[in-house]
Amino acid sequence: MSKKPSPKSENDLMEKIVSLAKRRGFVFPSSEIYGGINSIYDFGPLGVELKNNIKREWWKTMVQLRADVVGLDSGILMHPKIWEASGHVAGFSDPLVDCKSCKKRFRADHLLEGKGMKPDFRPQDFKKAKVRCPECDGELTEVRDFNLMFKTFMGALENEASEIYLRPETAQGIYVNFQNVLNASRQSVPFGIAQIGKAFRNEITPGNFIFRTREFEQMEMQFFVNPKEVDKWFDYWQKERLNWYRSLGLNKENLKSREHQSRELAHYAKKAADVEYAFPFGQSELEGVHNRGDFDLSRHQKYSGKDLTYFNAETKEKFIPYVIETSGGVERSLLAFLVDAYTEVDPRSGDEESKHEKEVILKLDKRLAPIKAAILPLSKKLEKEARQIYLDLQASFMCQFDASGAIGRRYRRQDEIGTPFCLTFDFESLNDKKITVRDRDTMKQERVAIGELKDYLREQLGQ
Ligand code: GAP
Repeated sequence: MSKKPSPKSENDLMEKIVSLAKRRGFVFPSSEIYGGINSIYDFGPLGVELKNNIKREWWKTMVQLRADVVGLDSGILMHPKIWEASGHVAGFSDPLVDCKSCKKRFRADHLLEGKGMKPDFRPQDFKKAKVRCPECDGELTEVRDFNLMFKTFMGALENEASEIYLRPETAQGIYVNFQNVLNASRQSVPFGIAQIGKAFRNEITPGNFIFRTREFEQMEMQFFVNPKEVDKWFDYWQKERLNWYRSLGLNKENLKSREHQSRELAHYAKKAADVEYAFPFGQSELEGVHNRGDFDLSRHQKYSGKDLTYFNAETKEKFIPYVIETSGGVERSLLAFLVDAYTEVDPRSGDEESKHEKEVILKLDKRLAPIKAAILPLSKKLEKEARQIYLDLQASFMCQFDASGAIGRRYRRQDEIGTPFCLTFDFESLNDKKITVRDRDTMKQERVAIGELKDYLREQLGQ
């Protein structure tokens, strides 16, 4: 009965996801009543739950369950010299060209990709390829570098001295706190520092819904290692991160790890591998795993004048640790989880309204589902007793109470937002003190004693 649309064959899958996201309150275009603002999104009542659940699962895997990784929450605004040291002022840019006729602006590397020259970019290739404007076939300007960092002003004076940047990655907040954390946490190399937070990039070509935006959240972890052990740890984290997405239910066939070619590498990286997902618009990066060598700590040592070397008291070795970084985007993974979970089935609710339409089930992992259980009184007359159950469960799980409409329709509403359990309170419940628990995926129904509901749900939800 159930057939998952293949991302590649379903061209309209993204449209369906965008529409569901808006209609049910996952994702809204930002500033909509003012006509919107390009490529910024707001997360609605269900979106914020899903986002929080993704972040919680990441934190649990990366920090809570590990003795060798600790957390941090550094500022978005930092000393401007940090971005000189990190290489972002000089090197964090995209190659751009403008059309001399229609004045539209394009990323030169994307235009080359369009000609099948993927994925590395050199300005000389661009000249040779004789690329013209894809919109009006006009002549294009020379390639120019455009820095992606947002600038703002700190303090009362809008002059150069008070100019600072919004961070384009959370990683630098970790490097500049390396010594602080080392002193405060009694960790020793190898160990990691993890952080979740907003990052900002003035992307030239944002797009594909929440895949590439100008404001987004990163989940980053910097793992500090002895340079001799860097390859071992790179392999370790590459596997760990791929497995994390798999463990949260992403279809194995849609996930893969791809190593970067040398010309693709970011300015700080010695080696990199992306976790990629087969989005409806193509195989694209979900997360990057980088060997950043000692680039960042060495540069901060040089620019700050502070000693950032590490001394191993046991082996008497002294070195600047190498860093293996894992860096994923919250919104990108949210999009992948939505795409992967989106399932259309033939009508199964018996609801008149849906007889001829496909029904949608979001088969999200139970840990990620925004609402864990919906409490549904079968009749208006049972509302009072059913509401009491809702109030009891609410303290432990995100729940919804829904007393309106045919029961089939209410199931359908919950399936569409991925609620794993619907709990139906009927007249029999008044006598036997049991409730019918319906499983989203199997549609199996089970009578569970009301007094045991909390334990039952806890076990089913893996809490
Ligand atoms: N600290 C390393 C770093 O920032 P990156 O490959 O530029 O590396 C890491 O970014 C991750 O951040 C990406 O894999 C992606 O998930 C997310 N990301 C980057 N730019 C983004 C954007 N414009 N919109 C949404 N997510 C983005």
